[in-house]
Amino acid sequence: MIQTVRGVHDILPDAIPLWQFLEARALAIFGQYGFEEIRTPLFEKTELFARAVGATTDIVEKEMYTFSDRGGDSLSLRPEGTASVVRAFVQQSMHRQLPWKVWYRGPMFRYERPQKGRQRQFHQIGCELFGPEDPLADAELLAMVMRYLTDIGLQTSLVLEINSLGCPDCRPPYRDLLIAFLRQTASHLCDDCQNRMERNPLRVLDCKQERCRAAIATAPVMIDHLCPGCTHHFSRLKGHLEDLERPFRINPHMVRGLDYYNRTAFEVTSVGLGAQNAVAAGGRYDGLVAQMGGTPTPAIGFAMGMERLALLLDQGKNRPAPPDVYLAPLGEQAEQAGLKLAETLRAQGLAVTLNLGGGSLKSQMKRAGRSQARFALMIGEAELEKNVVILKEMALGQQQEIRHSEVPGFLVNTCRTISVGDGHR
Ligand code: HAM
Repeated sequence: MIQTVRGVHDILPDAIPLWQFLEARALAIFGQYGFEEIRTPLFEKTELFARAVGATTDIVEKEMYTFSDRGGDSLSLRPEGTASVVRAFVQQSMHRQLPWKVWYRGPMFRYERPQKGRQRQFHQIGCELFGPEDPLADAELLAMVMRYLTDIGLQTSLVLEINSLGCPDCRPPYRDLLIAFLRQTASHLCDDCQNRMERNPLRVLDCKQERCRAAIATAPVMIDHLCPGCTHHFSRLKGHLEDLERPFRINPHMVRGLDYYNRTAFEVTSVGLGAQNAVAAGGRYDGLVAQMGGTPTPAIGFAMGMERLALLLDQGKNRPAPPDVYLAPLGEQAEQAGLKLAETLRAQGLAVTLNLGGGSLKSQMKRAGRSQARFALMIGEAELEKNVVILKEMALGQQQEIRHSEVPGFLVNTCRTISVGDGHR
């Protein structure tokens, strides 16, 4: 038997209503803030991710699915969405239409060690906002993330953590200070951190190993070494969040696993997820557009892991929406009539399950019960001759004969029409 690749999962029909719900709420809520959807390719030139995400990051060094195509070009499956959106921004000269606000959803690929909440193919919903440099934009974006998470039913277990990562003026001197500190404590650091100490020292602050956490407890932190511009930006952001009464925690050790960030960085974590506890994460990347060859344009964005949201909402409990009607035809001629009637009802917006595979009336009605349909429609030869069907309201057990031509009108009036996401709500 051939099975899925390690760390890659099917999303089975039982779970789909929840996924559709998550996407439908993103469409609605991000739309309220003026974001439009964008769909970018699943693979890009490897160089795009190396340049945007950073050549010395774990993602680029160890986690990308990279291959040569038949023309010899090095391509990679996207490990995240920001690089592609920035590429599209530059390629389509979107700096002429600022602000540019887009959101996206879809699979991302990272060769990580699979565990609860961490897959090799996973799905993100993300947003990117190009144009404003003002912390008002940061605050509004954070408010939108929290509104989304609250709306889908997650508010209680969530913590919003923020930090400032400085800018090209204040980060280099801070980086030197940190390297000097790390050199003194090098013997207490894990092997990984000893390796990245000189190349990517900020990542050491984020190491989960107990010995490293102890060693860096007194390390200098970026927020104590911000330039006046970054200090002002960060304090205005905090002020806006306080005004909005959005609780937050400052985490001076938060550094992100991608190199493009400056100033605001944030993560929303949840207590219900174990080690992989970030449900949403993002930040500012004011230098990236210029670095990718575009007209310098500040930007900020975030992405949420859909599998993690689904885990928190406990997808096992979500059943698909039951059909409005279960159609049970007895005999070949009745099946032909049933097929047509089912199509007519669906054209009117009703959800109809047509009994497939025959069976006695008793077994068909058993299936109708299991489907939790509100109504069953029975058609046998006698009904065909009289041009009627038998309609049964399942919960009441009551049945009546009704003229074939009156069925659509009757059902449309009694049943609600189906809509995406109803299954979950
Ligand atoms: P990230 O922190 O790498 O940022 O990923 C964002 C979120 O995607 C994480 O908080 C987590 O919920 C989810 N995620 C990441 N890796 C996995 C995985 N292996 N399995 C399951 N879920 C995962 C970014 O990707 C940035 N592009 C976010 C951003 C957008 N920054 C600015 N704009």
